[in-house]
Amino acid sequence: MTNTNPALNTPLALIAELTHRCPLHCVYCSNPLELQSRANELSTDTWSRVFREAAALGVLQIDFTGGEPLTRTDIIGLVKSARSAGLYVNLITSGLPLDEPKLDALIAAGLDHFQLSFQAAESQIATEISNTKSHAQKLRVLDWLKSRRVAVTLNFVIHRLNLHQLPEMLALAESSATRVEFAHVQYYGWAFANRERLLPTRAKLDESLEFFQKAQQRLEGKIRVEYVVPDYYGKYPKPCMGGWGRKLMLITPSGEALPCHAAKIIPGLQFDNVKDCSLAEIWSNSSAFQKFRGHSWMLEPCKSCDRRDLDFAGCRCQALLLAGDPAATDPVCSLSPQRPKVDAILAAIHSVAPTSPSSVVAQHAAPADRPSDAHSWLYRPNPA
Ligand code: SF4
Ligand code: FES
Repeated sequence: MTNTNPALNTPLALIAELTHRCPLHCVYCSNPLELQSRANELSTDTWSRVFREAAALGVLQIDFTGGEPLTRTDIIGLVKSARSAGLYVNLITSGLPLDEPKLDALIAAGLDHFQLSFQAAESQIATEISNTKSHAQKLRVLDWLKSRRVAVTLNFVIHRLNLHQLPEMLALAESSATRVEFAHVQYYGWAFANRERLLPTRAKLDESLEFFQKAQQRLEGKIRVEYVVPDYYGKYPKPCMGGWGRKLMLITPSGEALPCHAAKIIPGLQFDNVKDCSLAEIWSNSSAFQKFRGHSWMLEPCKSCDRRDLDFAGCRCQALLLAGDPAATDPVCSLSPQRPKVDAILAAIHSVAPTSPSSVVAQHAAPADRPSDAHSWLYRPNPA
């Protein structure tokens, strides 16, 4: 492998997908459609080596995610070894499977930050979205966290079905967290397959933006309120992952190093594995990481656009999914020649989107392997 990019930043964070196993089956899961099995998961020792290599490379934070990281029976040991490598340890979890002794053991092992994800503010929509009864357990976990010394973020993934519950979601965060993140679904992976039922209308989105701005003003100095709007409604794309291979690195359960969650959908990329190479080698030299660094790969209008170092031409995976070319300008950009495709998707949403929350609930329990249609969800299954 040869490094062709000498002016390289250090990655700030490592996203460790410890497993793809999960008790929930969310319709917007960011995992790939092809999930990795338990048999191929990295061992505790290999992960521990990766944490040491990450710290040596200058990584500051590790995000334990999945699937559900708590399904790893060695999770306490993994937290301990990441902490002793000098990393800030963030656990992104559904709160299942967890009890109070295990929570205490995680904190004693050095957990710095607990990021609890919610599907809604109440159980009916939460159950519909995850095809699992998990809301009551999340409320229990939230209650336990109130008396623990660990930073807490509540993470609400928002979409058409739960946008009307923002006040109740915020109240949950006010009761217990120091930070709350309202992140709109991003449309790749499982969310792309379920997009037509998740995209909100422009009117509902605008109402939510007003809500977030007021919440930020009211809670300034008490709770950090952050929100991410759906790309499809933007004028310009977001700098996906802070730019390809610029700030973040993701390791899959079996050890492949990816520049983003969905990178494996891009044809022709070769991903190196932490079992064969050090993290430093991969960061500097991996062909997949180098593929969309810098400007030379860009096409017009990005190539000569004065925003190209702000958004890095948007999301490569979205460009592939919507334009059929991962090097194309992200089609959500208003300057993209492909933007009419996004406008057509939004126009179709507005012609069918239900107006009342009650009308969108209760299209239940599609089998996990059944393709989506107008009346059912494509639920994420559990890997073998
Ligand atoms: Fe960003 Fe490219 Fe759009 Fe310019 S043309 S705003 S660089 S996506
Ligand atoms: Fe892959 Fe955005 S999800 S670059």
